[in-house]
Amino acid sequence: MEYFKMPLIMKQYSTKGPDETFEIGYRLGQCLKPGDVVGLYGELGSGKTVLVKGIARAFGINERDITSASFTIITQYQTSPAFIHIDLYRIEKTEELTEIGIYELIGGDRIAVIEWAEKAEAWLPEDMIAVHVQYTGKNDREITIEGLDEKNRDNI
Ligand SMILES: Nc1ncnc2c1ncn2[C@@H]1O[C@H](COP(=O)(O)OP(=O)(O)OP(=O)(O)O)[C@@H](O)[C@H]1O
Ligand SMILES: [Mg+2]
Repeated sequence: MEYFKMPLIMKQYSTKGPDETFEIGYRLGQCLKPGDVVGLYGELGSGKTVLVKGIARAFGINERDITSASFTIITQYQTSPAFIHIDLYRIEKTEELTEIGIYELIGGDRIAVIEWAEKAEAWLPEDMIAVHVQYTGKNDREITIEGLDEKNRDNI
């Protein structure tokens, strides 16, 4: 795994398999605080859910309990802080976001992790942590994390 330490707000990682992506997620999860929102961007099958499994692990959630949420848009876990996994893949219109109550879901003390975050752009907080997962080869991914340093959490 290559690790490029970036001076300001962006961190980049190259992973060579799902386990390494999971590990990046786990380390990111350990940096999160109640109220944090993580937006995940990346094409179909890029590895967003693998990352979510790693993040969730930091809250004691078993990876088997994280669904690749093609059927479930929202799953909330009774952890402390509460962890919520939102997958907007099936959302087609912004009105649907109001229907699912996205505003209430990503507020408060929860940790919210959102796949296909671009579908909720207008609803996302300014201090969101944005994670881009890019397919660069069968088992290779580029992962970019933005938004951590400005909160002084440079320890990932
Ligand atoms: N380096 C890697 N990091 C993450 N996943 C990888 C990597 N190499 C191969 N994979 C595989 O890519 C797939 C990623 O699937 P995953 O469900 O996480 O994607 P996703 O971005 O959540 O897709 P969707 O848009 O359908 O929700 C898995 O089958 C995983 O095993
Ligand atoms: Mg997914």
